Amino acid sequence: MAVRRSILGIDGPEPLARAMRDAQYIADEGLSTAAYLALALGKPLLLEGAPGVGKTEAAKALASVLGRELVRLQCYEGIDSAAALYEWNFPRQMLAIRQAGEEYVNLYADTFLVARPLLLALQAPRDRVLLIDEIDRADHEFEAFLLEFLSDFTISIPERGTIRAEEPPVVILTSNRTRELHEALRRRCVYHWIGYPAPALEAEIVMMRAASVARDTADRVVAAVNGLRAEPLAKPPGVAETVEWAEAATLLHSQGVAWPRAFLRSIGVALKDQDDLEWVAPRLEALLGGQAA
Ligand SMILES: Nc1ncnc2c1ncn2[C@@H]1O[C@H](COP(=O)(O)OP(=O)(O)O)[C@@H](O)[C@H]1O
Ligand SMILES: [Mg+2]
Repeated sequence: MAVRRSILGIDGPEPLARAMRDAQYIADEGLSTAAYLALALGKPLLLEGAPGVGKTEAAKALASVLGRELVRLQCYEGIDSAAALYEWNFPRQMLAIRQAGEEYVNLYADTFLVARPLLLALQAPRDRVLLIDEIDRADHEFEAFLLEFLSDFTISIPERGTIRAEEPPVVILTSNRTRELHEALRRRCVYHWIGYPAPALEAEIVMMRAASVARDTADRVVAAVNGLRAEPLAKPPGVAETVEWAEAATLLHSQGVAWPRAFLRSIGVALKDQDDLEWVAPRLEALLGGQAA
C-alpha cells in the first residue's frame, strides 16, 4: 500500500481541518482524521450519518482543499451503470450517419461518448474528486458493481477496450444509512460516522455561514434545534436548517418582530412536516429557553 504522509503539503489531520475551515467547513477531529487517513492511504472515505449533518458538504470542502473538481454521482433507486459510467450519444450518432452519406463514420469516437462520473474520475484522477452520494439509495446490485469499480478502478467499454486510471482517484462515499451497506464495501473504505455537531461547533457553523446572525441568536437556535432533535420527529432539522432558522429569525427581528416571536414565526424554516410542527407547537417556547434575549 502506497502511503503518502503529505497530500499537497497537508501533513496531518490538523492542517487538513484548517484548510477545510478556509473552505467554509468545520471538521472535528474525528472527521479530519478519517479524511486525512483516507487520502494518505489512498482509500475511499465512507461518510455515514443522518440527513443534513454535512456529508456532501464535507466532500465539496475536500475537493476544494485539494484544488480539484468534484464529480458527483447522485445515487437513486434503480440507478444503473449507464448513469454511472458512460453512454453513447445515440441521436448524435444517427445525425453523423445521415450527414456522412456514403462515408465511413466511427460511431465509437470520443465525440459520441458521454462520460458519467465514474469514467470522468478515471480519465483525470489527479484533477477530480469522485463523490458517490447517498449510496444507500441504490440497490444491492449497483453496490456490488461499485465494489468492483473501487477494487480495480477500471472501466471496460466493449467498443473501446479497458480504461484504467493512472492512479486511484480520491473517492468519497456517503450514506444516510437508510439501510446497511455491504460488509465488503465498508471494508474497502476508511469509515467515519458524522453525528450532529456539538453545540459550540454548530453555533460556529451558523456564524460562519450566516454573517448577519448575532452570537446569542446562534446559541439559542442551536439549543432549540438540539431540543427538537431529541423529540420523536419524522424530519429532525439538519445543520442547514439551523443556519436558515437563525438567519430567518434575525431577518424578522430586524423588521421589528420581538424575540422570541421571531423564532416562533420562522419555525417553518426549521421544520417542514405538519405532524412535526403540531407535535412541537406546545413545547417550542420552552425549547427556545423561555425569556428572549
Ligand atoms: N461542519 C460543517 N461546516 C460548515 N457547514 C456545514 C457543516 N455541516 C453542515 N453544514 C451546512 O449544512 C448544510 C447541509 O449539509 P449537507 O452536506 O448537505 O448534509 P448531508 O449531505 O449530510 O445531508 C450544508 O450546506 C452546510 O451549509
Ligand atoms: Mg448530502
